[in-house]
Amino acid sequence: MVTGACGGIGAAVVRALADHGVPVAALDVDGGVERLGERFAAPGRAQVRGHLVDVADPAAVEEAVARVEEEQGPVAVAVNVAGTLRPGPVLDYAAADWAAVFAVNSAGVFHVSRAVARRMVPRRTGTIITVSSNAADVARTGMAAYAASKAAATHFTRCLGLELARFGIRCNVVSPGSTDTPMQRELWRGGAGAARAVAGSPSDFRAGIPLGRVADPDDVAAAVLFLASPGARHITMHDLRVDGGATLGS
Ligand SMILES: NC(=O)c1ccc[n+]([C@@H]2O[C@H](COP(=O)([O-])OP(=O)(O)OC[C@H]3O[C@@H](n4cnc5c(N)ncnc54)[C@H](O)[C@@H]3O)[C@@H](O)[C@H]2O)c1
Repeated sequence: MVTGACGGIGAAVVRALADHGVPVAALDVDGGVERLGERFAAPGRAQVRGHLVDVADPAAVEEAVARVEEEQGPVAVAVNVAGTLRPGPVLDYAAADWAAVFAVNSAGVFHVSRAVARRMVPRRTGTIITVSSNAADVARTGMAAYAASKAAATHFTRCLGLELARFGIRCNVVSPGSTDTPMQRELWRGGAGAARAVAGSPSDFRAGIPLGRVADPDDVAAAVLFLASPGARHITMHDLRVDGGATLGS
């Protein structure tokens, strides 16, 4: 099960899983989610089924996860990718924007993880992966609400990993840096785009990207796929950075 499935990273994760023969329940609040099944249909690829849901709504999430399990079987891997970005300096930031960002990026991760974990625990198997952000640990100008909401998502996922370890359920975080998706392109409006992200902005206390490129969504999907695989069977509560060295390994 993958949330935020219509977005750049979510779609790459859906495709990566389906290409590895894993049937996918693709969740998003975007109406386009209903057509994801057709969009991803390809020979040799497992089935993808779209489900319209707002992760900020706990009752809707509960209902969607029940429907997914009824229609597609037990959720073995849940990937929290849904996210929202409302940039702006703190002094001018509206309380409503703060609430909206936390409703998706933090509460959404809680709602989805709780709904799947309740079903994974009796089965004593499952893995949960949260796509957070390298902004969760490194301060950014104009992104306080987003970065704080991601810090909450990251630490929530680690704590959940501790609670669920005794049931054999692993919970990990994948933290991308600047990745070429619609969300990232929002930040590039009117600026120099990718070149500015790669160069960084010392005056904003912002490191550039040492590897010299902005990530493709597939770079993030590869990390998710690894953490979902048996090769990661002894890895839990880990935060895997996929940011080209932007946070200098901190
Ligand atoms: N692109 C980057 O540079 C970057 C960097 C670090 C972290 N991330 C994180 O990666 C994740 C995916 O981002 P992306 O770049 O693919 O963005 P995106 O904007 O392309 O996709 C986000 C998706 O989440 C969905 N969504 C938003 N609110 C939702 C809700 N309430 N319920 C269900 N779905 C909802 C959107 O409809 C969209 O399809 C996000 O959590 C984002 O914060 C992105």
